Amino acid sequence: MKHKPIFITSALPYANGPLHLGSMVEHTQSDIYARFMRMIGRKVVYVCADDTHGTPIEVNAAKLNKTPEQFVKEWYNHHTADLTGYHISYDSFYTTNSKESKHFTEKIFNILKKNGHIYKKEIELMYDLEAKRFLPDRYVKGICPKCGSPDQYGDNCEKCGATYNPNELLEPYSVITKSRPVVKIAEHYFFKLSSFSSKLKKWLTNNKKLQPEIKNQILGWVNEGLEDWCISRNAPYFGFKIPGEDDLYFYVWLDAPIGYMAALANELNGKVDNAEKFWNESDVTHFIGKDIIYFHLLFWPAVLMASGFSIPDNVIVHGFLNINGQKMSKSRGTFIRAIDFREKTNTEFLRYYFASNLTHTMTDLDLDLEKFISKTNNELVANVANFVYRTLSFTNKNYDSKLSTIRDTMLLEKIQKKTDEIKAAYEAFNYRDAVKNIQEIASLGNKYFQNNEPWKLIKINKEETGEVLTDCANIAKILSIVLKPILPMFSKSVEEQLNLKEQSWKDLPNYIENHKIGKAVIALQKIEKLDLQIGDKPNTKTQKKIDPFSKLNLKVAKITSISEHLKADKLLLINIDLGNNDKRQLVAGLKPFYEDINELIGKQIIVVTNLEHANLRGEQSQGMLLAGETKDSKTVKVLEAPKSKIGDQVYIERITPGSKTIKFDDFLKVKIYIENNKVMSEGKQLKSDKENIVTEINNGKVR
Ligand code: 2FM
Ligand code: ZN
Repeated sequence: MKHKPIFITSALPYANGPLHLGSMVEHTQSDIYARFMRMIGRKVVYVCADDTHGTPIEVNAAKLNKTPEQFVKEWYNHHTADLTGYHISYDSFYTTNSKESKHFTEKIFNILKKNGHIYKKEIELMYDLEAKRFLPDRYVKGICPKCGSPDQYGDNCEKCGATYNPNELLEPYSVITKSRPVVKIAEHYFFKLSSFSSKLKKWLTNNKKLQPEIKNQILGWVNEGLEDWCISRNAPYFGFKIPGEDDLYFYVWLDAPIGYMAALANELNGKVDNAEKFWNESDVTHFIGKDIIYFHLLFWPAVLMASGFSIPDNVIVHGFLNINGQKMSKSRGTFIRAIDFREKTNTEFLRYYFASNLTHTMTDLDLDLEKFISKTNNELVANVANFVYRTLSFTNKNYDSKLSTIRDTMLLEKIQKKTDEIKAAYEAFNYRDAVKNIQEIASLGNKYFQNNEPWKLIKINKEETGEVLTDCANIAKILSIVLKPILPMFSKSVEEQLNLKEQSWKDLPNYIENHKIGKAVIALQKIEKLDLQIGDKPNTKTQKKIDPFSKLNLKVAKITSISEHLKADKLLLINIDLGNNDKRQLVAGLKPFYEDINELIGKQIIVVTNLEHANLRGEQSQGMLLAGETKDSKTVKVLEAPKSKIGDQVYIERITPGSKTIKFDDFLKVKIYIENNKVMSEGKQLKSDKENIVTEINNGKVR
């Protein structure tokens, strides 16, 4: 059977901010698939683009005194630098602000109009009287009409996934001026989504590839009844003007997925007709996150059906990325930009980590930084890369780089069988299983090397040892092929070391014998320490006044032991555990305030973790604990977080914890106080993700 070509896409990132590690999950997931498909000989076109339209981009560009075109161009440059840095192999990474996008958007709109799938209707919209503009979806917030979650945007609910119109929100307010918007009437275009219910149902039911949990979710929505979809927006707007209209633009979510076609056309030298043909003849495969299911499994297929294009063959939906078990969020300091990571470590390590956690489900992934380091060091470096290096350097040294013939055909056959499982796992988007099998191959190789003890055997039987080494070199070759979708750079280096031309899947059974290899190099090295700067770096143009609290990095620590400072009678030496292997000693003047100092042991306290270390009468203090003090200074008690996990971040709402080392003077600028048992700063309560911070002091200050 001749396979169809595959057209692979990732969701288009907004040209409105940096790519973060969450977006890299998707680019990596689709890239592994595209690379694998190319390796097994399928014709692949793999694209993405920046999503450049909509109000936020228009508003944010204006804030910086830039044109939207300039603004999106700058983000484009950042995005492409990141994608290159993570070895994402798009054939085209394009932009929706392109002539091809305009062409397809207008074309589709005209077909929809001609075929009666679009109508105009007067609707009530939110209007901000102070800002004198209509408020698009994301600029109105309020309570979700479906599930009742507060602070949800006007277009869809991040809690329950429902989409709706902004005027359906309960207790709305304008994000721009915080005023309560008024309702104003305007005429808009609507797409008759409701008339596609049965076609959509049929597609969802018959499609064997979609994840069952998603199918069910969408079928549920269809059964509840679909509402028609408003596809226009009022000026001011950055986007394509609707032909024949003065004040109306296409809604960004109409032209965004059409951007997939535009990127395809760009790859086909701007030939829009060829792009249409390719679209209709290929297996269109979209990778998306679970937050945009509604757009990709309802609106988009319906628009395609209505305009006569073929509908996607598959939509692979992944979950979100958490960092150390916590949601990625700026306010919690767990927002990692793609650039932060790639400046600090080999991006292939992250590709490997993601792959080893990715399956064909919507389960969230967790980037646990400790696990990331141990996985990299133990699996990738120790098990795979060191095996390759041992084998090849031994051959360089003792055999003048010459391989002989293979010896253990049984072992090699066993390994070949595993490569079939790996292939099946890649095809099923189950990269976790692919990685598991790859590790098993590397372990077999290591065991074989170790059991044969070539460093000893060579003294007895040089010929046999040469054959063992040849087996190992062939295992190294197999490893480099099966790992290539995940680690393209590492695999390329191994190919070079083996003195082989570019290998693909079909080269797996071709053994290398009587072959001269190249020089072994240490291709991957263990991570000693990962010194990550999490969060936004200050940007001089947008920098706000730095709030003193934001310099602090507070965490929950457990007191493990206590002793008295031998040279100072008020001071205690306190040993603490901050989790993640971070154990420290603090020096604190608490002794006069606790009758029995041992009652402090086991308490979970709050520590300023990024304070410059100090020497207090000959003892190191590696941070400082926070304690409350009554107004008369007679009582001092530590702040506590008994229900939190060791290492949890302590923060106040909307302030990103600092990552730089601070001086004691910086700490003195922060005002933390206790009011009716509540620990406060800047009018907000100090807390961790699990609880508000507590203390035995009722009113006073924190020192
Ligand atoms: O949610 C987002 O980030 C959108 N920019 C995704 C668009 S995907 C496609 F429809 F273009
Ligand atoms: Zn909701």
